[in-house]
Amino acid sequence: MPKKDNIFDAPIEQVKQFAFDERVASVFDDMIARSVPFYDEVQSLTSALMAQTITPSQRIYDLGCSTGNSFKAFLERIEQGPARELIGIDNSPPMLDRCRERFVELSKHKAIFLQEDLGKLELKPCSVVLLNYTLQFVEPSLRPEILSKIWQAMDVSGAMIFTEKICHSQEQIQDLLTSQYYDFKRRNGYSEMEIAQKREALENFLRPFTMEQNLLMLKDAGFHHCEIILKTYTFATIIAFK
Ligand SMILES: C[S@@+](CC[C@H](N)C(=O)[O-])C[C@H]1O[C@@H](n2cnc3c(N)ncnc32)[C@H](O)[C@@H]1O
Repeated sequence: MPKKDNIFDAPIEQVKQFAFDERVASVFDDMIARSVPFYDEVQSLTSALMAQTITPSQRIYDLGCSTGNSFKAFLERIEQGPARELIGIDNSPPMLDRCRERFVELSKHKAIFLQEDLGKLELKPCSVVLLNYTLQFVEPSLRPEILSKIWQAMDVSGAMIFTEKICHSQEQIQDLLTSQYYDFKRRNGYSEMEIAQKREALENFLRPFTMEQNLLMLKDAGFHHCEIILKTYTFATIIAFK
C-alpha cells in the first residue's frame, strides 16, 4: 500500500509553492492516484503503446518519470519482444531515488534514470516518448522547443503520449469541469481544506494550456497526426505520431 498523502490536511498558515520534494515523493503514488482521474487507465494505455511501438532504436523516454509508474506498468505487461532501453528523466532527486530503488533488477531491459531539467533536454534517437502530467509544470515559453526536440529525436514511426491538465477558454465550461474535478477529489477522500490548500500551492506552478493551444503547439513542433484518446474533467491524453 502506498503511504497516504496527508500533506495538506492540517491548516497551513502560509501555503508555500508546491515542490516535488522528499515529502511529496514519499506519498506521490497515493497522491496521484487520488488526484488524477483515470490515472491507471493512462498508465495502461501508455504501457500498451510502449509494447506495440517497435522501431529501430528501441529506446523509450519517460520525461517527468516521477516514481516510475509508467515503466513499472510496461514491465508488467511485456514478456516477449525485443530488449528496450528505458530512460527516465526528472529534475527531482527524491523522485529519482524511488525509481532507482524500484528498478534494480531487470531481466533483459536496461533502465537508467537521469536528473535533468526539461528546459535543457538532449535526447538520443527514440521509439516512444512519454510526457505525462509534466509539461504543465514547465515555463510556458520553453514548451514549444521541448516538443520540437522530442519530434526531432523520434524515429520515423515513433509515438509520443502526452497527458496534461487542460483549461477551457469558456468560463462556464471551465467552472463546470473544475467543480466536477473537485467532486472527484472529495470522493477520493480529500477534504475541502486539502483541496483548497493544494490549489493555492499549485497556483502559478501548474500552468495549464487549453486543448487548442496544446494541439497547435504539437502541430507547430511537427506532429501532424494527433488524436485525443482520453479526456476526463480537466485532463486529456493525446497520442502524437511523427
Ligand atoms: C505529476 S509528475 C509526472 C507523473 C508521471 N509522469 C506519471 O505518469 O506518473 C511531474 C514530474 O515532473 C517533474 N518535473 C517538473 N518540472 C520538470 C522539469 N522542468 N524538468 C524535469 N522534470 C520536471 C517533477 O519532478 C515530477 O516528478
